Amino acid sequence: MTALKVALLGCGNVGSEVYRLLGEQAGDLEARIGAPVEVAGVAVRRPGRTRGVAVPAGLLTTDAVGLVSRPDIDIVAEVIGGIEPARSLLLTALKAGKSVVTANKALLAEDGPVLHDAARAGGADLYYEASVAGAIPLLRPLRESLAGDAVRQVLGIVNGTTNYILDQMDTSGAGFADALEEAQALGYAEPDPTADVEGFDAAAKAAILAGLAFHTRVAAADVHREGITGVTQADIASARQLGHVVKLLAICERSDKGVSVRVHPAMIPRTHPLAGVREAYNAVFVEAESAGRLMFYGAGAGGVPTASAVLGDVVAVARNRLAGTRGPDATTYADLPALPMGQALTRYHVALDVADKPGVLARIA
Ligand SMILES: NC(=O)c1ccc[n+]([C@@H]2O[C@H](COP(=O)([O-])OP(=O)(O)OC[C@H]3O[C@@H](n4cnc5c(N)ncnc54)[C@H](OP(=O)(O)O)[C@@H]3O)[C@@H](O)[C@H]2O)c1
Repeated sequence: MTALKVALLGCGNVGSEVYRLLGEQAGDLEARIGAPVEVAGVAVRRPGRTRGVAVPAGLLTTDAVGLVSRPDIDIVAEVIGGIEPARSLLLTALKAGKSVVTANKALLAEDGPVLHDAARAGGADLYYEASVAGAIPLLRPLRESLAGDAVRQVLGIVNGTTNYILDQMDTSGAGFADALEEAQALGYAEPDPTADVEGFDAAAKAAILAGLAFHTRVAAADVHREGITGVTQADIASARQLGHVVKLLAICERSDKGVSVRVHPAMIPRTHPLAGVREAYNAVFVEAESAGRLMFYGAGAGGVPTASAVLGDVVAVARNRLAGTRGPDATTYADLPALPMGQALTRYHVALDVADKPGVLARIA
């Protein structure tokens, strides 16, 4: 049987594991798909760089455009990240009818509609399970398993770095700066942690989750975003006194008026299932009308766990290709407006540091 040819774009943390697993599991993958899958080329920026995996020199190329344009390529797996050149490469692939698998949350949140339109026009698949919560199967359950239900709320810890920092602040009493330094030393946080600690990464994931959950187009710009840099040890202690824990939550809610999508630090009761999500783990809590409450938990990042999600998508799109079909689209028929933060119904905890004098509380009241 003719092999399905994969162009792998990027061979870093995730890409090198995708390459390794595609080789190591070739026999099983062939049996599951019904045809062999073969890596036909690997696009990188610095071909001479030492990688976690030995890629034959003949497969490595810096010409990603040339690779995705090759007529023999069936599937493009993109793990470069960022907006460009990923966007142009994926549009080229989709327009040419090649199936795309990507882990790129930033691109999906910024330009998802354009990519989806290109996939539809090209009759190709666009799968992106790895873009939200790494290894955790979440997007397919929302897109397929819950397609017969009405999702009301999605509540998630979708950024492992900030969860690690807040968990350290809660358990060891560390301040934000010390906890961030420790996360960086352990490799949980990037040298420039802005995307994580300011909530940009979680906001991109919230946009993707809300779009799928509520069948509507949600862009990163529709998401109210507040990071964790303002969370102090006093906030953590005050939450603890009330039996709560502080988590950076991605909150997606649907009401009669529209969808509210936001990312901000929130106090949640220690009895809530998300309160027990420790260290760099991710978890997403979904509430649907008929299914009730569901919880998805696991490794939200890391080369190997993320590669698992990429490979799952490669198998899915390969099966579709062999069957001469494409998978279910993300539907946007509901077309709900994104509500501003001012219309979100929520509660605030206000802590005041005051002089212990008669009359102070009366004045504040
Ligand atoms: N790491 C995770 O835990 C994780 C989890 C979930 C999702 N993701 C997503 O997965 C994607 C990849 O992440 P990563 O951590 O694997 O990134 P990474 O380690 O920085 O790897 C990026 C790869 O892309 C290559 N590259 C960069 N610019 C390129 C260009 N212009 N043309 C061709 N290749 C280029 C790099 O080549 P060189 O090797 O030659 O520099 C490198 O191999 C991102 O979208 C990220 O958001 C990552």
